[in-house]
Amino acid sequence: MTEIFRVDPLDPDLNVIKKCANILRSGGLVVFPTETVYGLGADAFNSEAVRKVFVIKERPLGNPLIVHISNLDQLNYVTADVPKHAWKLIETMWPGPLTLVLRKSQKVSDIVTGGLPKVGVRMPAHPVAIKLIESANTPLVAPSANISGRPSPTIVNHVLQDLYGKVDAIIDTGETLLGIESTVVDLTTKPPTLIRAGPVSIETLEKILGTKINVPAHARGLKQVDKQAPRSKYIHYVPGTSLVLVELDDYSNLTKLTEKISEVAKNYLEKGYKVAIIASRETLHHYSRLIGIKLVVLGSRKRLYEVAKNVFKVLRNLNSLNVDVAICEGFDEKGLGLAIMSRLREASKQNIIKVKEC
Ligand code: TXA
Ligand code: MG
Repeated sequence: MTEIFRVDPLDPDLNVIKKCANILRSGGLVVFPTETVYGLGADAFNSEAVRKVFVIKERPLGNPLIVHISNLDQLNYVTADVPKHAWKLIETMWPGPLTLVLRKSQKVSDIVTGGLPKVGVRMPAHPVAIKLIESANTPLVAPSANISGRPSPTIVNHVLQDLYGKVDAIIDTGETLLGIESTVVDLTTKPPTLIRAGPVSIETLEKILGTKINVPAHARGLKQVDKQAPRSKYIHYVPGTSLVLVELDDYSNLTKLTEKISEVAKNYLEKGYKVAIIASRETLHHYSRLIGIKLVVLGSRKRLYEVAKNVFKVLRNLNSLNVDVAICEGFDEKGLGLAIMSRLREASKQNIIKVKEC
């Protein structure tokens, strides 16, 4: 049985929080909102509860979970060492959508970290998440509340599609603010290594740290396996409809992008496929003359946070469009663009057409 509680995100009913905290304290699973996506919460120090998270998400045991904390005492409890440069990020960015990978303390079980000596820690910037952790009085593991390999949930309907009947409770506060998951950066390496691009851009991280950050290909959504980043071994964000991503080297001339997408779309149409185009607000009108195409808008290129907020929703909704293939525009990798592009590249399963400069 899954109980669903609707609460005000800014002024949550404390009785609901207490009830859900009790469920967590007794080893149950509670889906709760964060500023990024919905998380599937369990007591980080209850190994049986953590194991259940892996089972119901169908998540490989080698893929570590992020430990969510509400105060810095908990940070000291779950880590063995918080280096100086980590404090710069903590002071500027927490609470917020940034996960730091640090050396773990012995108190954190290997189940949580997938056997790695490091733990991912984040202090979420959502009143419900913080109050829930405080009330449960224990750090919570909270992977995105989806079946492994599917797009992360930004509304409770998405959570229900994947996990209804499998969790004890869901706290519903409506659509999450940012819509993509936290930036994950490993601070145990020199220089620090980006594990997952996210709302906190590499430009921002480099500015705060005053050093360059290593950005491996897998953190840009490209295929590459790295032992230190178990996530690079697994598939993510697969929408259930084939996705083709069309990219440019330089996004100053969008005509090249719309021309290539129109050409690819026509080829599919001629073969009898049903086709959707996923476009930006600025380029949408270029496709209006293509007959029989379904058009989906991701958001404006001038407001990438809008694109980020919509990306998982659009991927999840592709199934209901009843098309065989969706062709998606690429975005400039600057700032939030990298986080968006890494999601789209993974969702396309590397089905990428790169339009070369001529
Ligand atoms: O925004 C978020 O981070 C959301 C919300 C719910 O907080 N959570 C989330 O968790 O996205 P999850 O488990 O879906 O993604 C965490 C990613 C995984 O790809 C995992 O491999 C990586 O972070 N990760 C976690 N701990 C790690 C560690 N110790 N070393 C390397 N990668 C780690
Ligand atoms: Mg996830």
